[in-house]
Amino acid sequence: MLISKKAQTITISQTLAISAKANKMKAEGMSIIAFTAGEPDCATPSYIVESAKTALDQGKTKYTPSSGTELLRKAIVEKLEVENGLKYNFKEVIVSNGAKHSLFNALYAIIDDGDEVIIPAPYWLTYPELVKMCGGTNVIVNTTKETGYKITPAMLEKAITPKTKAFILNSPSNPSGVVYSKEELYELAKVIEKTDIIIISDEIYEKITYGIEAVSIATYSEKIKNQTVVVNGLSKSYAMTGWRIGYLACNREIADAIDSVQSHMTSNPNSMAQAAAYTALKGGSEIPAQVKVYEERRAYMLKRVKAIAELEAVDPQGAFYLFLDVSKSYGKKSKGEVVDSSIKFCSKLLEYGVSCIPGSPFGNDNFIRLSFAVSMEDIEEGLNRIEKFIKELV
Ligand SMILES: Cc1ncc(COP(=O)(O)O)c(C=O)c1O
Repeated sequence: MLISKKAQTITISQTLAISAKANKMKAEGMSIIAFTAGEPDCATPSYIVESAKTALDQGKTKYTPSSGTELLRKAIVEKLEVENGLKYNFKEVIVSNGAKHSLFNALYAIIDDGDEVIIPAPYWLTYPELVKMCGGTNVIVNTTKETGYKITPAMLEKAITPKTKAFILNSPSNPSGVVYSKEELYELAKVIEKTDIIIISDEIYEKITYGIEAVSIATYSEKIKNQTVVVNGLSKSYAMTGWRIGYLACNREIADAIDSVQSHMTSNPNSMAQAAAYTALKGGSEIPAQVKVYEERRAYMLKRVKAIAELEAVDPQGAFYLFLDVSKSYGKKSKGEVVDSSIKFCSKLLEYGVSCIPGSPFGNDNFIRLSFAVSMEDIEEGLNRIEKFIKELV
């Protein structure tokens, strides 16, 4: 066999087939409203773009230290202290090509073959794939409506075995939008504190919340901070998805291991994007205005969805996704075909001109995910079409 066993375990995104179909229909002239966006629908703020142009003019076009420039790492240290109450040395901060890369690096640095990684479901679909790439075993803990789609301390405790190496926590969450309160995080921290498990805390949506502050679990105690890899990035907060700058902060032992890995894997993150990221962190954010925009769309979508008996939304307190339980429609038919899964729901909905992401790759087949990083006009029309689709199910 040409392809390695490891590569064979990696699942190609199940959403690609639907996206490909949506694109084909669009190319054929059909109107498609896409609720699939995983990125802000606003431009990177111009002061950040300008700083990248300046960096180019100044010749910042060469290799940088593998973990990122000292300037940027020190700006991240300052951000973590001022905004998150976490004190790090800049040598404990590693800048990478996006938070996705930071997550891979963190897992690669700590996972041996067969080590278990606890992931609450629904989860961001990349986590289990990264764990597999690193030779680890996924231990998926299914959360429910009763637990507010959050893992509880009892559920966490039950999932821990002598093989558990890490626990991936994502708050605010993609896809559900749930945000753990400080109290909830600290109860989870108490469970982890009794072990030597590493928490990978993905905080990439921390600035996008609605009436609740996102807290880092690493603030619980010095021991927990030492056991936590805090992952963040500029993609969502500064509308910089294409720039590919993410970072992590953790204890020096893990940071040094990641530094070595990254030095061979990519040499360093892109030099002008690092300059732009520095400006973004120093220059303040235009994100509060964008969060207000998301908030209006979120409220509108919730209102519309609540009026449709067959749909039940998780009230998102963060990020920009509406995770929608559509399972009441399962068993009914659309144009002669039974809708019995999230993939089937999405593919039949596409015939009504709406594309969205099925819940199965996120670990819950009862749901679909609608992004609200989409214009209000599209949201209105998209919801009209969803309503029509549901009404016409028999
Ligand atoms: C939960 C979560 N973590 C991490 C990322 C990765 O972000 P990036 O690699 O663009 O920094 C994403 C992107 O969609 C995400 O949703």
